[in-house]
Amino acid sequence: MRFRLHGFLHDLPPGPTSFPHFSYEMGKRLYDNPLGTLMNYYDEYGPVFTLRFLGQEMVFLIGPEANQKILVSDYRDFSWEKGLLAELIPFIGYGLLTTDDAEHDRARKLLAPAFYPARIKSYGERMTARAVAAAQELEVGDLFELHAWTREVALKIAGDVLLGMDTPKEKAEYFAEHFEKGLGYYDGYFWQTLFMRGPGSQQARMKKHVEKLEQVIKEEIDERRSWPEGGEAILDLLCHAEADGERFSPREIRDHLFTLLFAGHDTTAATVAWLFTLICRHPDAYERLQDEIDEVLGGREPTPEDLFGGMPYLDMVVKETLRLYPPAWFGPRLARKEFTVCGHRIPANTHVTYSSWMTHRLPEIYPDPEAFKPERFSEENYRALQPGAYVPFGRGPRTCIGMRFGELEAKIIAVVLMQHYKLELFPGQQFGARTVPTISPRHGVKIRLRQRASQ
Ligand code: HEM
Repeated sequence: MRFRLHGFLHDLPPGPTSFPHFSYEMGKRLYDNPLGTLMNYYDEYGPVFTLRFLGQEMVFLIGPEANQKILVSDYRDFSWEKGLLAELIPFIGYGLLTTDDAEHDRARKLLAPAFYPARIKSYGERMTARAVAAAQELEVGDLFELHAWTREVALKIAGDVLLGMDTPKEKAEYFAEHFEKGLGYYDGYFWQTLFMRGPGSQQARMKKHVEKLEQVIKEEIDERRSWPEGGEAILDLLCHAEADGERFSPREIRDHLFTLLFAGHDTTAATVAWLFTLICRHPDAYERLQDEIDEVLGGREPTPEDLFGGMPYLDMVVKETLRLYPPAWFGPRLARKEFTVCGHRIPANTHVTYSSWMTHRLPEIYPDPEAFKPERFSEENYRALQPGAYVPFGRGPRTCIGMRFGELEAKIIAVVLMQHYKLELFPGQQFGARTVPTISPRHGVKIRLRQRASQ
């Protein structure tokens, strides 16, 4: 019989908090089968349950009601900065993701123009140029790892659009290399490796890469601030943006850039990797998407107008991909006040998280939730979803600022690849999910490129 600590330590909701379900054992279960383990707890305890994981109690709040509370109606009562992902601060600093209240609101206002639809459209051209160039470097017959390849393409796009560092090339490559190596810190097998400190630790290595990146950014800021007019990149906007007569400090610029790179690049790469994992296993969907691409574009390059509104099936495929594999799958916060959700009272100073991944697998919202069915996201069905039921980009005032950017980039890369080649999964590979820092294919996605039938 299971002994529950409910009501014993902190009066938290029930959950598998008792021996042997915590610490190493819990970490291993979550590593081996993250979604299955969490959904079993949901089945056993309901939408609000407590996990004791690596010495930390965390209350999972699952489903639309909880999502609406954390993300929309009461979002000010939940702190990002004090939540579990404060672990990211040594790398990305205090950018939009990791700040709260007035500091966050000011930064969001200053950054908003970089994500206005007109700007996103102008980024589209550069995204397409990079995607086409990268696709042309591949050849029919190649066997390659799609997730790693897309990460590289996404970093090149970030070099152009975020940093405006396409020239000199060496500087952009140096930056990309150290960013990837620094970010590697968060690819740890277990979270406990992240908590180790001191010389030789993973964190010390990460900090070395961060110092190199900071040096490049400092030089770039000095140079750009000496230009009479700002350039086109988001870094230029950060160097010249003003709110109430105030500019960002160099430290703030560094933090915002790191945050945008961190939040934007693996999420997009994972989306592309999962999209192909899914459509290659569903030939009908692959074919229907290919037909749409050929009919709408007829061989020309895609424009943002095509991709937002002009290709409804592509839109449905992307939405269904992000339902099944929302890369940023959980959103930890610290509750600042006592609150009640789904009939549970939760004390102040509790670590809580919402989870898009789990919400998206609830059969009462998405019947047959494991199945890949893009039709779920016909315009009509999408409109009928209750608020908080579909949250791959979060929701409310802290919705992903890069939502359209990320969607556009993922769509461009997918469409350009399909225009050039027929993609096939290399047989016999495994498709487990890695969950930290994003849900991405744990073993990569090995793709064989074939000649397209019509070519
Ligand atoms: C498919 C791609 C993407 C997905 C699935 C995604 C997902 C998310 C989610 C779920 C959140 C909210 C997290 C929370 O509530 O705790 C978020 C926030 C954020 N994302 Fe994205 N993202 C993507 C692409 C991007 C891109 C391309 C950028 C930047 C260029 C970006 C920048 C950000 C930032 C700065 C935030 C914090 C916003 C705030 O708190 O005000 N994301 N993203």
